Amino acid sequence: MTSETWTAVDEYLTRLLVPADPALDEAQQAAAEADLPPISVSPPQGKFLHLLARIAGARRILEIGTLAGYSTIWLARALPRGGRLISLEFDPKHAGVARANIARAGLSEMVDVRVGRAIDSLPALERDEPFDFVFIDADKPSTPDYFRWAMKLTRKGGVIVVDNVVRKGGIVDASGADGDIEGMRKFLAQLAQQSGASGSVLQTVGAKGYDGFALIVV
Ligand SMILES: C[S@@+](CC[C@H](N)C(=O)[O-])C[C@H]1O[C@@H](n2cnc3c(N)ncnc32)[C@H](O)[C@@H]1O
Repeated sequence: MTSETWTAVDEYLTRLLVPADPALDEAQQAAAEADLPPISVSPPQGKFLHLLARIAGARRILEIGTLAGYSTIWLARALPRGGRLISLEFDPKHAGVARANIARAGLSEMVDVRVGRAIDSLPALERDEPFDFVFIDADKPSTPDYFRWAMKLTRKGGVIVVDNVVRKGGIVDASGADGDIEGMRKFLAQLAQQSGASGSVLQTVGAKGYDGFALIVV
């Protein structure tokens, strides 16, 4: 089984299950034109996140790592009228592209993209209502910190999803670990010990290679 097969299957599934969508397609195009790295979730993964947020009945969503707003649009579309999504992004250029994409998708009223290091933006969120759904997808070495914050900011019964936790299988080899792998190993050890949460990891293959999502219920 090769990565060409994974990509072909992703394309097949996208054609069948993720119909062409101007706002999402233009968001990807705008990201490419602005030279943003092609590291958003894939279309089937975006729809998967959307469905998870709907299953969770999310009214308040926190996203850490916006990029061009591709996953943001998928998640915001899961919100009911009056729902809210806050997305944290370090890079002002990424945030600018994301805001334009979110506006084109007609979601500006429910989405707030906040620029700065997520670790600096998170404490202010303690003053608000808790979140129903948190998606962690930013700088990987900081994932243990983001998970600690997500546990504080998520309501009981809420859901936390963490992307890129398997890293081509690198998490099983401590000797070859880079900062990203190390971040995920620390996060998974933390999750294993975490009281008040139950989590598992689903390994994934597809157009984005071999990786995985962690799914946690608080
Ligand atoms: C993998 S991308 C997010 C992809 C997006 N969730 C999607 O699927 O469409 C990671 C993003 O996190 C941002 N980022 C990196 N370090 C950050 C930090 N310390 N605080 C907030 N965002 C950060 C990067 O600039 C990048 O835009």
